Parts: sequence; C-alpha cells; structure tokens
Amino acid sequence: MGRTLVLTGPTRGLGLATARALLRRVPDATLILAGRDAAALARLARRLGRARPRARLVCVEVDLQSAPSIRAAADAVRAAAPDGIDALVLSAGLQFTTDGLTTADGVDLTFANNHLGHFLLANLLAGDVTPEGRILFVSSGTHDPAQKTGIPAPLMREAQHAAFPATLGRRDKPGVAARRAYSTSKLCNVLCAYELDRRIQLCGRSGPHVLAFDPGLMPGTGLARTYPPLLRALWSWVLPNIIPVLRMAMGPNVHSAAVSGDNLARLAVDPAVHGWTGVYVSGRAAIRSSAVSYDRGLQAELWALSAELTGLVPAEAEFAWKAVTPGPPVRSGPEPQAFTTLRLQA
Ligand SMILES: NC(=O)c1ccc[n+]([C@@H]2O[C@H](COP(=O)([O-])OP(=O)(O)OC[C@H]3O[C@@H](n4cnc5c(N)ncnc54)[C@H](OP(=O)(O)O)[C@@H]3O)[C@@H](O)[C@H]2O)c1
Repeated sequence: MGRTLVLTGPTRGLGLATARALLRRVPDATLILAGRDAAALARLARRLGRARPRARLVCVEVDLQSAPSIRAAADAVRAAAPDGIDALVLSAGLQFTTDGLTTADGVDLTFANNHLGHFLLANLLAGDVTPEGRILFVSSGTHDPAQKTGIPAPLMREAQHAAFPATLGRRDKPGVAARRAYSTSKLCNVLCAYELDRRIQLCGRSGPHVLAFDPGLMPGTGLARTYPPLLRALWSWVLPNIIPVLRMAMGPNVHSAAVSGDNLARLAVDPAVHGWTGVYVSGRAAIRSSAVSYDRGLQAELWALSAELTGLVPAEAEFAWKAVTPGPPVRSGPEPQAFTTLRLQA
C-alpha cells in the first residue's frame, strides 16, 4: 500500500520544494496538497503529476485563517486518506510587515495564521495519523533569541501575549511588532509540537511522532512578499545566488529551499529518523530549542487558549483532551471563559 502524505503551503517556497522532495523519495505516494488558492493547487498538481506519473495527487482547499475552512479541509483529507495519514507536514506560514493586524475577532493575525490554523488542523487530523506516522510543525530559528537572526525576539511570558500582543503593554518602533509577532508565532509552533507529543504519549500511544523543524534561512521564497520593493528584490533575486557568501557571514544555517525541502521530506518519510519525537530539528540535526520553549506551563497554557480560540471540542480531537498535562501548574493566564466568544476568522 502506498504512503499518504499531507502537506500545507505547497504552492511556494519551502512547501513547493518539499512536495517535490517527497515525491522524489516516495514516487507512488498519495500526496494531499492543502492550500488556499484552488487554481495554483490545480496547476501544481498537473506539474507534479507530469514529473511523477505514479503519484496520486489530491488538492484540498484550506485557508488557515478560517476555522470553518480548516474543519472542511480536515474532512476532505480524511475522505482522501481512508487508510490513514503517514505524514502531516505543516509548512504554510506568512510574515507581515504591518504592525497590529488582527483577525475579525481581534486575535493577532500572524499568531492566527502561523499557529492557530495548524494547531486546529493538527488536532483534527492527529487521530488519523498512523502510530508510525509523523506530524511536523515548521518553526524557525527566529523563535530562539540565542540564535541572533536579526528578527526581534519573541515576547511571550503568557500565552495571551502571543494572541493579544497589546496585553504586553509595550511600544515598539514601527515594523518591530509585526516581525516580533512572526518570531513569537514560530515559538508557538515549537511549544505546540512539544505539547502534542506529550499528550499523545499520555494517551498511552507510541505515536504518531511529533517534531518541530527549522529550515534555516531560505532567501528567495515568498516569505518576503510584503517587504518594501528594494528589500523584496534583494531577497528574491540577489540573496539566493550568494548562499555560500551568506553562510560565511551568518553561519551554516542558510539553505536553498530545495535543500531545506529535502531535509523536511527526510523527516517526513525516511526510516532513518523513525523514533524521533518531541524534538526540534534544525536542518538534519536534532538540537535544543529556546529555553522558554521547554516551559511546560506555557505549553499547556498556549494549548488551552488555542483550543478556546479555535472552538476545538473534545469530540473532534483525539489527543487534545484525553490527557491531563503534568508538570508545573498553568501560569497565571487569562480565564478561558474570557475567550469563549472569539473564534478564528470565519
Ligand atoms: N524563508 C525563510 O527564510 C524561512 C526561515 C525559517 C522558517 N520559515 C518557515 O517556512 C515556512 C514556509 O515559508 P516560505 O519561506 O516557504 O514562504 P512562502 O514561499 O511564502 O510559502 C508559504 C506558503 O504558505 C501558504 N500559506 C500562508 N498562509 C496561508 C493560509 N492562511 N492558508 C493556506 N496557506 C497559507 C502560502 O500560500 P499562498 O501562496 O496562497 O500565500 C504558501 O504556499 C513558513 O512556516 C515559514 O515560517 C521560512
């Protein structure tokens, strides 16, 4: 039986490179391409199908800023994967340059797009991922202040700081808050991966395995699409051609999307990494993530707040509710009731 792989964000950048690498490694896979642009998905499926005729390509529309869209997409994925999912690869993500963007419910848009959407999708589908299967959250080195990436470090002592940055009571220079929201959302990806992994284990399951992945800096992707024109041109046309120079100047964690896509595909399907779970992988090596990412209280608090904001209910998520997270008590966060009216943008 061929393997079934699900990939978000396949239309550009890392996701596109990962789609190609997955099919290079598993040419007869069923690859479910989950994205928000139906025409781009159809074009991509045609292109991939021409290169890999043994593959079965399924397009599923999903807007990760919309809870109803995510729920419909989870149903469509389940229908296309009756024998279960072997890898759920959560690559989609955005970076904004405008400060203070929110969803209709007032939730930080970067947090909603980069964390809440995948939190909900992963919970809806985790029960369909096989025990040997893998769930991969794409994070970023920007989540770790020790990595000095040039992006403002995350500020998140409590979960509500990520969802509602105004609660930090802080005034940043223009443009800083937007970029900080990005690094904070990438910290949420790591916190979420660790919490999901623990909940699966507390359910007495040996899998699926859950990992957070840092692809490294990948100039040339669509991530800089909201940058000012000059910076965008530099990112899109100049930097991809001088990666060896960038590595000399910034260290080895700079890659083409093709290299990072292959690293991510390896985590998804290579037997060599079977058994890796609850860890953070940078490129091809498991390394320590930021100090705060190991804060169990913060992990649990983020989980509870994310469930409230997405309206996740016990009946729809196998691993979200069955286990009680041990460790330090949840930090002094918002009362869950305070958020019951908020929902990820419809
Ligand atoms: N580039 C880097 O240097 C870098 C470094 C570290 C981590 N990362 C991470 O790598 C991942 C991929 O980024 P990238 O650089 O490849 O960016 P990209 O080229 O812009 O690709 C992002 C993908 O995510 C999709 N996406 C974004 N928001 C979505 C939504 N609401 N619903 C559905 N799909 C959505 C995009 O679809 P559309 O085309 O429809 O917008 C696109 O396919 C992100 O998680 C990013 O944080 C990137």
